[in-house]
Amino acid sequence: MRRTLVAGNWKMNASVEDTRALLAGIRDAGEQSCEIAVFPPFPYLTLAVELTAGSAIQVGAQNCADQDSGAFTGEVSAAMLSDIGASMVILGHSERRSLYGETDAVVLEKTKKALTSGLIAVVCVGETLNERQKGEEEVVVGRQLNLLLQELSDADWKNIVIAYEPVWAIGTGETATPEQAQAMHAYIRRLLAGRSAEIAQDTRVLYGGSVKAANAVELFSQPDIDGGLVGGASLDVAEFLGICRA
Ligand code: PGA
Repeated sequence: MRRTLVAGNWKMNASVEDTRALLAGIRDAGEQSCEIAVFPPFPYLTLAVELTAGSAIQVGAQNCADQDSGAFTGEVSAAMLSDIGASMVILGHSERRSLYGETDAVVLEKTKKALTSGLIAVVCVGETLNERQKGEEEVVVGRQLNLLLQELSDADWKNIVIAYEPVWAIGTGETATPEQAQAMHAYIRRLLAGRSAEIAQDTRVLYGGSVKAANAVELFSQPDIDGGLVGGASLDVAEFLGICRA
């Protein structure tokens, strides 16, 4: 029932030329059995929407503002993303949390704006290495999810995807083992079940952190892993398609 989603987070990479090449490569491979979404930087979103028109590839942004409009220099609202034809947005990525000070409360506000604007919110959670070494990974992820569970409605949850990204596995080449990832995904699903059985059953929980074609099959075969949020490997068409085929 939960359709596997492979989401490519390009981060602050690519150019007009790269955007054309990456999207042509993915399109030309034809329809995949998983759902595919790409998250280019803001300047390339409109181009990506145009280049994926008529295909099943979804386009999303890597962030949005926690305000609707007005004097917020440098910010991009969820309504603007929706206006240009984006359908998703990544929120609360660990790089946003650690480098730009985004708190759980800010992530909640952004999530509300995204949902009001009709976007699917891909909300990221995950512990640091230090937190895992102290055995606090469940406490940390629980805290990150808690506000969303308290504040969002059942209808909101239909448009939320959770991405579990252990910070120590992002861009490091070190992947959580399938067992480590499955254990956390099962924990996340238990937290969702505390809110409602339906939300637990229907919400997709992606794994992120050094996902590659070579480790995707094992990760995605875990019962509670519903796809991947892919950084580095999403900038290489062959790798990305390898992950989609997994
Ligand atoms: P990575 O990044 O695949 O390069 O580890 C994942 C992410 O940050 O979403």
